[in-house]
Amino acid sequence: MKTITDFIKAKENKQKITMISLYEYWSAKICEEAGIDCILVGDSAGMVVAGYDSTLPVSLDEMIYHAKAVRRGAPNTFIVVDMPFLTYQVNAEEALKNAGRIMKETGANAVKVEGGEEVAPIIEKLINAGIPVMGHLGLTPQSVHALGGYKVQGKTEESQKKIIKDAKILEQIGVFSIVLEAVPKKLAKEITEFLDIPTIGIGACKETDGQVLVFHDMMGFFDKSPKFVKRYVEGKKLFLEGLKSFKEEVQSGKFPSDEQCYQ
Ligand code: KIV
Repeated sequence: MKTITDFIKAKENKQKITMISLYEYWSAKICEEAGIDCILVGDSAGMVVAGYDSTLPVSLDEMIYHAKAVRRGAPNTFIVVDMPFLTYQVNAEEALKNAGRIMKETGANAVKVEGGEEVAPIIEKLINAGIPVMGHLGLTPQSVHALGGYKVQGKTEESQKKIIKDAKILEQIGVFSIVLEAVPKKLAKEITEFLDIPTIGIGACKETDGQVLVFHDMMGFFDKSPKFVKRYVEGKKLFLEGLKSFKEEVQSGKFPSDEQCYQ
């Protein structure tokens, strides 16, 4: 199993890091088989699996449930678990208690926390307790209402300065990696170059030290994909064909045939 040191070494050796955000046993199992470096149990589960229109309703217990299933599917892969909305922002003591539950109950290797300077003292508390933390800057979905929607960040000079400052602070306090979401190529490149810890991009072009995609996005399960997603498989089309064939074969008497029957 990889460690946080391996991710930092990967950056030094210019080896790109692969991470997939997923939520359950079976997809975790095939990711491990594919040799993906790191699995993120993202709170995007709230949107992808539960059908909410944001990540805000996701609870700590739900994240723990997903993460336990993922660990069972990928016993040898480095797993990062998102701390959901309001499980770390209130105060450092509560954050530590909640991060502790994630680490103890799921077998995860690290947690991910959204935000920069404003949550730095909280992140520091987790790191001081021995919990590796991955940062998340740029478009931070838990702040979707404050950001005015799911928009590219770092377009103005002021917002670029803030993201750069946050990245420096996060590195200084000891996060082992930072997700950069929906930021312009130039900004992602600049941040990646000045940090010693790896950046993992989503919608941040190829300048980052690694890439993360949501499993269901890359497998083409949704009708529409955001610009930054590459659909590696047309999953919805394949599943739809399978389901339509099942229906047609049950109705026509073709399934089950003798081959599927116990004699
Ligand atoms: O929740 C998630 O899946 C994420 C990734 C998009 C980075 O935070």
